[in-house]
Amino acid sequence: MKPLRKIIFPAAGMGTRFLPATKASPKEMLTIVDKPLIQYGVEEALAAGMEQIIMITGRGKRAIEDHFDISTELEANLKSAGKSKLYKEVSRVSRMAEVVYVRQKQALGLGHAVLCARHWVGDEAFGVALADELIVGPKPAMRQLSDVYHKTGNSVIGLIQVPADQVSKYGIVAYQAGEDGLLRLTDMVEKPAVEDAPSHMAIVGRYIFTPRLMELLHDVKPGAGGEFQLTDAIAALAKEEPIHGVVLEGQRFDAGNPEGFLMANTLLGLQHEQYGKALRQLLKDHL
Ligand code: G1P
Repeated sequence: MKPLRKIIFPAAGMGTRFLPATKASPKEMLTIVDKPLIQYGVEEALAAGMEQIIMITGRGKRAIEDHFDISTELEANLKSAGKSKLYKEVSRVSRMAEVVYVRQKQALGLGHAVLCARHWVGDEAFGVALADELIVGPKPAMRQLSDVYHKTGNSVIGLIQVPADQVSKYGIVAYQAGEDGLLRLTDMVEKPAVEDAPSHMAIVGRYIFTPRLMELLHDVKPGAGGEFQLTDAIAALAKEEPIHGVVLEGQRFDAGNPEGFLMANTLLGLQHEQYGKALRQLLKDHL
């Protein structure tokens, strides 16, 4: 079985669903309670035992690099001001992971973004996570996938069941129940019309791939929306190797749009040790 140490975060998108908030700052840096979205993703990957983060960025994304970098001046200031809790947190974030940054020069699609990381991935298995999909629950979503990878050595995709009117927004899979109790994905299609969809089971932005996926991405032709689609390369992989589906436990939010973002903030706010009480009171007063 190939080692699983690396994970790609495609983060070059323009965040159009969240304008004007994302006009001058990356959507990955939008704050859920007290941390930027991308930090939730990185912490989830670390909790699954991954160590190397490959961030695919583009113009206007420097704030992500600064966030995970050591800020010598800030750390020195916090230390000398005796703000030891803040100092610890800031220095923890700067040192939590080894991060490399790869620029995607043109927005040619998710498949193209992932392919930009090929030299960093080499001949190893790797994860891919879309940070605006926030999955909240006791077991980190990437961990749910990596457990299956470590059992089988096969590619694994995170899934959720979506209502009919949402099907055309996602990659949708065809699947069978395997003898081992795992779902086996037989095909998938990107953003199908509901009448053409093989199921209502959607790909939800958490993936683990064997290295073969990168080779198949090379050959992908523009698909849905004229973009190089990751889903098309996964469909090709499904013809060659077993791919497992994991229906993710936990509550999932599409935090890349204002509604999902507000709901994620509310749930995590309510669960927060320090802010939960005041938020509960506020909601009580206004309901
Ligand atoms: C991407 C993938 C799609 C997946 C979705 C999950 O689409 O292409 O298969 O279902 O993420 O969020 P996007 O939302 O980037 O259009």
